[in-house]
Amino acid sequence: MKPNIALITGASSGIGMELARVCARNGHNLLLTARREKRLLELKKELEAEFDVDVIFYTIDLADYDAPEKLFEFVRKNSFSVQILVNNAGVGDYGFFHESDWKRQAAMLDLNIRALTHLTHLFLPEMIKQDRAYILNVASTAAFQPGPMMSVYYATKSYVLSFGEAIANELQDTGVSVTTLCPGPTESEFQKEANMEKSKLFDRFPVATSLDVAEYGFKAMMKGKRVAIYGLINKMVPRAVAISPRNFVTKVSRFIQQRKD
Ligand SMILES: NC(=O)c1ccc[n+]([C@@H]2O[C@H](COP(=O)([O-])OP(=O)(O)OC[C@H]3O[C@@H](n4cnc5c(N)ncnc54)[C@H](OP(=O)(O)O)[C@@H]3O)[C@@H](O)[C@H]2O)c1
Repeated sequence: MKPNIALITGASSGIGMELARVCARNGHNLLLTARREKRLLELKKELEAEFDVDVIFYTIDLADYDAPEKLFEFVRKNSFSVQILVNNAGVGDYGFFHESDWKRQAAMLDLNIRALTHLTHLFLPEMIKQDRAYILNVASTAAFQPGPMMSVYYATKSYVLSFGEAIANELQDTGVSVTTLCPGPTESEFQKEANMEKSKLFDRFPVATSLDVAEYGFKAMMKGKRVAIYGLINKMVPRAVAISPRNFVTKVSRFIQQRKD
């Protein structure tokens, strides 16, 4: 029998790293991916020392066009069976779209949308053959409305939510569940990487820890919940958006993302 693994993208920091810790604590062998090898090696050593699990890692830039195929091939060659697929890796970019660097926007589209979709497409056929398998896609509360000052990022997360809900429906008669996790602002390296230090977002909302978000996401995935929004205030976002005029929602979103200076 092929060894079952949980494949986690973006495991070198933040929510992905904590999801790796939660999965290991629950006895899952892991395949961790990200670009920073040193981080993955340290995490492997930590988890193998603490828990009775095997941890392997594969360093890759998932924004590269052929990266999902390479990762899939690595899994196939090692005869692993992916029982849990966590599409967590994602980046943002703060600022006006017309002033943005196209290379950053393109890499965001490639990572947040194309890689997530391609990995899901590659691994699903094998996952469907299993009695029970799980997909956890990390979106955001950004998924529920347009996001001026982070227009492309919000749109990518809307895609992740829409795609996840749709395939969860398609897969309802199989053993595969698809959970879309929607965290609000969360302590991680995301804020710095997305140049969001100038945004008021993290001052206006309660900020969760990556560990709390990961534990919540893991439980939701295990229950097969389709959409999992972390935090009481965040849960109110889609409700408020649903009953408000779209233009008003977009203005509020812009206000929340206002520059500090
Ligand atoms: N933090 C928040 O406020 C927040 C809120 C809602 C949703 N989210 C979502 O949560 C997910 C995790 O983010 P986080 O907050 O944990 O941020 P983070 O600490 O910056 O982690 C991002 C992870 O993605 C990996 N990554 C980035 N670019 C990559 C690439 N091109 N190829 C492969 N891996 C790449 C990073 O690893 P390397 O740099 O080593 O490659 C890192 O492990 C993202 O999808 C994000 O959109 C975050």
